[in-house]
Amino acid sequence: MKKAYILGHPLGHSLSPIMHNAAFKHLGIRAEYCKKDILPEDLPKTIELLRQDNVFGANVTIPYKLAVMPFMDNLSDSAKAIGAVNTIINDNGKLLGHNTDASGYIRALKENAGFEPKGKIAIMLGAGGAARAVAYALLNANVEVLYIHNRTFEKAKSLAKEFKFLGNIKAIGKTELKEKIIACDLLINTTSVGMEDNAKDPKTSAVEVLPNSGFVSDIVYRPAKTKLLADAEKVGLATQNGLAMLVYQGAQAFEMWTKQDAPVELMFAAALQALEK
Ligand code: ATR
Repeated sequence: MKKAYILGHPLGHSLSPIMHNAAFKHLGIRAEYCKKDILPEDLPKTIELLRQDNVFGANVTIPYKLAVMPFMDNLSDSAKAIGAVNTIINDNGKLLGHNTDASGYIRALKENAGFEPKGKIAIMLGAGGAARAVAYALLNANVEVLYIHNRTFEKAKSLAKEFKFLGNIKAIGKTELKEKIIACDLLINTTSVGMEDNAKDPKTSAVEVLPNSGFVSDIVYRPAKTKLLADAEKVGLATQNGLAMLVYQGAQAFEMWTKQDAPVELMFAAALQALEK
């Protein structure tokens, strides 16, 4: 029996086991995807386990996406640029650290929402870990410009500076944000504002202004409809939550482990069903 894992802490709500186990079963692959909810001191020995013959690899989530990097034998270009690993592939005992969040986000936009980012004006809220993957994805997908706004302006500025080599990216402050949002093609929230377990206030929107006609996306999927997405829908804008990104990042990891096409629709249905429970 082959194994794949998700490493993180805490892992209570993770949808990944349900999604991957449904896919293994569907394709008749004798494998099991298990949670490894571990403390930081157990990380090194857990990573060593991944080198065993019967292990495909692992997904990595909060708070270990950075911490696993020094233990990898190789890092993909996206993992290096984003500065985070969300997928580990066991290649005959050698560990490749990769990041499938970026490609997951773009595939979700293109295939699930039918939105083509190329040549578009995009605005991203947030400059944390998730924002790095989304910014990397959008710049590689050739948006015309990516504006970043963050509560802590300095972080937006340094991310823009760091990712300049990838394309046209600019940090903007509060005043400029309003005017840019109105005219943008794509508004994306990568902050934790609006998340169900955000102790502060899950009913808050990440931003008060909405595009006149742009697409609005939120990487949050709990709740399925954040205040931002609900507000956008109310004025007739097309929206997408973070579930498709979650499914597609998982599907790419699955394909890298098993070298088979992932049954994406089935994984989507399994994740959705678990979320709605
Ligand atoms: P993740 O890995 O999920 O992106 P993170 O790296 O901690 O998590 O980043 C969280 C993002 O949400 C940051 O952009 C953060 O803004 P700061 O850099 O100013 O901290 C943003 N964020 C969190 N709570 C927020 C709030 N109440 N209002 C605005 N932005 C918030």
